[in-house]
Amino acid sequence: MLWLSTWGQVLKKSNLLDHHDLNIADIRKEYRHTHIDETIVGDDPILFFSKWFTEAHKAEIEDVNAMTFCTVDAANKPHARIVLLKGLDEKGFVFFTNYNSAKGKELHSNPHAAIVFYWKELERQVRIEGTIEKVSAQESDDYFQSRPKGSKLGAWSSPQSDTITDRSILDKNHKHYEDKFKEGQIPRPEYWGGYRLIPQTIEFWQGRANRLHDRILFTNDGNNWAKSRLAP
Ligand SMILES: Cc1cc2nc3c(=O)[nH]c(=O)nc-3n(C[C@H](O)[C@H](O)[C@H](O)COP(=O)(O)O)c2cc1C
Repeated sequence: MLWLSTWGQVLKKSNLLDHHDLNIADIRKEYRHTHIDETIVGDDPILFFSKWFTEAHKAEIEDVNAMTFCTVDAANKPHARIVLLKGLDEKGFVFFTNYNSAKGKELHSNPHAAIVFYWKELERQVRIEGTIEKVSAQESDDYFQSRPKGSKLGAWSSPQSDTITDRSILDKNHKHYEDKFKEGQIPRPEYWGGYRLIPQTIEFWQGRANRLHDRILFTNDGNNWAKSRLAP
């Protein structure tokens, strides 16, 4: 049976940690914090997301706005990395990056993307799927100008996702742009800006005892949000 041999392989690999007295398969926790249901989440998932986000922020969760962002390339291969949520409105979820980066190229060929938040202290996960569009140049300019000088120079200095021979390239670029923009405002590079993920589905997951977690899924048909409960 294929699944048995695959699982056996995983177990064997985790046993590599045995000499550190660590068995990955034994790591488990019970989730008991709270619960959600169809009434608690309401009818507007973006509003409910903002409630959860505020609670996570108040709970002083570190990197509360860090989210796993997943793209799919032209060969249908998925790629995931962390980015930071920098804006949220009724249209969707905004982050900033280099449009020429690997993710930028992937989004150019396939605008479908997914986001995952995990706020472990609150035993909560949010999964968001949808399509991507670039934010307006004005929105990108406004955010870029709000950044510290070092971050602005960083955006100019790093050909994000390109292979570089060594780190000195970055230091050289940084020095070059520091000199170039010695006076006046540092403009936003045209290859750097924001994306907004327009959500089509948003799922709220609240950990519960005995692995019987609560999962409430919102699906948008283009006009309205519909709600359903999923088995954990
Ligand atoms: C905590 C954290 C926050 C990050 N925030 C961003 C971000 O907001 N924008 C960004 O482009 N990269 C961010 N990164 C770096 C990305 O994870 C990734 O390395 C980079 O965007 C290149 O990805 P790509 O080659 O798939 O395009 C962050 C990484 C970490 C660990």
